[in-house]
Amino acid sequence: MSIKGKVALITGAGQGIGRAIALRLASDGADISLVDVNGDRVDAVADEVRAVGAKAISLVADVTDRDQVQTAVDRTERELGGFDIIVNNAGIAQVNPIADVTPEEVSRILAVNVEGVLWGIQVGAAKFRELGHGGKIINASSIAGHEGFPMLGVYSATKFAVRGLTQAAAKEYASDGITVNAYCPGVVGTDMWVTIDERFAALTGAPKGATFDKFVGGIALGRAQTPEDVAAYVSYLAGPDSDYMTGQAGLIDGGLVYR
Ligand SMILES: NC(=O)c1ccc[n+]([C@@H]2O[C@H](COP(=O)([O-])OP(=O)(O)OC[C@H]3O[C@@H](n4cnc5c(N)ncnc54)[C@H](O)[C@@H]3O)[C@@H](O)[C@H]2O)c1
Repeated sequence: MSIKGKVALITGAGQGIGRAIALRLASDGADISLVDVNGDRVDAVADEVRAVGAKAISLVADVTDRDQVQTAVDRTERELGGFDIIVNNAGIAQVNPIADVTPEEVSRILAVNVEGVLWGIQVGAAKFRELGHGGKIINASSIAGHEGFPMLGVYSATKFAVRGLTQAAAKEYASDGITVNAYCPGVVGTDMWVTIDERFAALTGAPKGATFDKFVGGIALGRAQTPEDVAAYVSYLAGPDSDYMTGQAGLIDGGLVYR
């Protein structure tokens, strides 16, 4: 219950890792603001959060739009009575060899994975300053933010960018008592990986499921990652035990990429 009474906003909270983070931080004692482009999904997760005993609101917002992020943060503070933690989790994947990447694809993934995180940092930190207290900013990077993977080159570039933003923001906001860290999951069995696997199958002729199995086969701990594995690390980053940590992008991948 180390974050009891705190208010946490999580983007991309409608499913997968974001949903697991919401449920974990709720069971840690925080009240939760769930943000996603998919309203039905965040409404359903809000019900699950309330079942844990926390307060929850669900908000539809697109993280690529700074005004929508601002509105989500303002409503969170007003409706939940505070604002202490923001988890910039929303992200998309793209699978394409560099030879075939199009300008439209690049613009889209940069907007969601990089600008989405940037606006979350900027708007979140401004709200912490306005409220006169510090806070925790937690960003989604990836193993692909530490190592470029073939067919995932542009995705990897966006996740490297998240590490750069995390380091710069950590330095800029440290004197405000705001810490900024990132989590770098490995191979998590969410819808995102279903899409990645299907796209690899279409591009390489690999059987369905084979790419996922191949990646999982490289994990030292011998199993795919669950969203809850990621949420446990985010729980640490959201709580007081990580107060002396900032600017880091920690790998939580079962032993796959070593840095
Ligand atoms: N799944 C993995 O193996 C893995 C590994 C490393 C990092 N990550 C990162 O973790 C994060 C979550 O991944 P996931 O596997 O849960 O993905 P997911 O596709 O299962 O869920 C992503 C959620 O984000 C929402 N979203 C997408 N674009 C949005 C936007 N513009 N504004 C608001 N919400 C938006 C979607 O509606 C969805 O609910 C992503 O940033 C992803 O890159 C995932």
